[in-house]
Amino acid sequence: MTHAIPERAPARIDARLLAWFDRHGRHDLPWQHPRTPYRVWVAEIMLQQTQVATVIDYFNAFMARFPDVWALAAAQADDVMARWAGLGYYARARNLHAAAKWIVAEHRGALPRDVQTLMTLPGIGRSTAGAIVAQAFGVWAPILDGNAKRVIARLAAITAVPGSAAYEKPLWQLAERYTPHERVSDYTQAIMDLGATLCTRRAPNCPGCPLAADCVANADALQADIPAPRKKRARPRRETTLLVIKDDAGRVLLEKRPPAGIWGGLWSLPEIDPEADIEAVCRERFGIAATPGAALAPIEHGFTHFLLTLHARRVQYRSTVRIMDGDFAWYERRDRPGLPAPIARLVDSPQLKLGL
Ligand code: ADE
Repeated sequence: MTHAIPERAPARIDARLLAWFDRHGRHDLPWQHPRTPYRVWVAEIMLQQTQVATVIDYFNAFMARFPDVWALAAAQADDVMARWAGLGYYARARNLHAAAKWIVAEHRGALPRDVQTLMTLPGIGRSTAGAIVAQAFGVWAPILDGNAKRVIARLAAITAVPGSAAYEKPLWQLAERYTPHERVSDYTQAIMDLGATLCTRRAPNCPGCPLAADCVANADALQADIPAPRKKRARPRRETTLLVIKDDAGRVLLEKRPPAGIWGGLWSLPEIDPEADIEAVCRERFGIAATPGAALAPIEHGFTHFLLTLHARRVQYRSTVRIMDGDFAWYERRDRPGLPAPIARLVDSPQLKLGL
């Protein structure tokens, strides 16, 4: 199979897309001002699995804490993870930190300027590498993130199933064809903005689209069929039981998770066997005499590959005597490190504040 580009695909799109971008695109994103390589890089990693609206505050906080690649390379892993907490997909933070160390140690603190070298860094694929060099250095490189894929697939009416070679191959060829040599940075932002704001998955705004006249999906009324729905695989369900152990000063016992697995290396609530005798666990594992209380309302959290139901049991520790061990810590709200979003929800549960 050749996976050729469909004949009706438009020849070029850059002039109309850029004219639209000048009037309607996003020009005030924090990583655009100033648009340094370091800022663009961190932003693109955050944007891999997280929407712009969520990323903005995390990005600003991250920059305040780690203003340049040297600060990031010198940081403690815990500190980096704490600033990422809530964004999810924590391998991104670990990879970013490792890459910062590599850039400082092996590359004099300068981000590589070419796609090939960037792609050797963990967590950077072809599209992210392209987005970085285009925006940071104005180097010609195609991108193909989720938004750009949808735009191009509709323009050329590529009906193959996403993830298949029949979908991905012509899309990359068209991404190369459409990426201009002038204003490559603006073009990169423009195609993502068009996908995010007009060429949305559901109810795209074709009347407002600068490319509508050339769009094959628009001509053939195929917008709703492209991209073709992926085969839905039911995500398996998993359950976990956690303890919210509070002392009389209102501190919560946190445990550092093992490096591998979900939330690897992050602080979290201690996880127990659901059948375990809670008093015995507290005595044997944490060295405290504590009284189990009510169960909190369960929380559902979706991971890419499974759904997790978090059951939490409240436990009261009638003391303020601290046990301190490498992987345990009593935390108060003000010095609490970043926690995974569902764990933060449990710790902040209104049921706990009412002392139930
Ligand atoms: N997704 C990935 N990179 C992005 C960017 N620079 N702007 C908006 N969405 C994005």
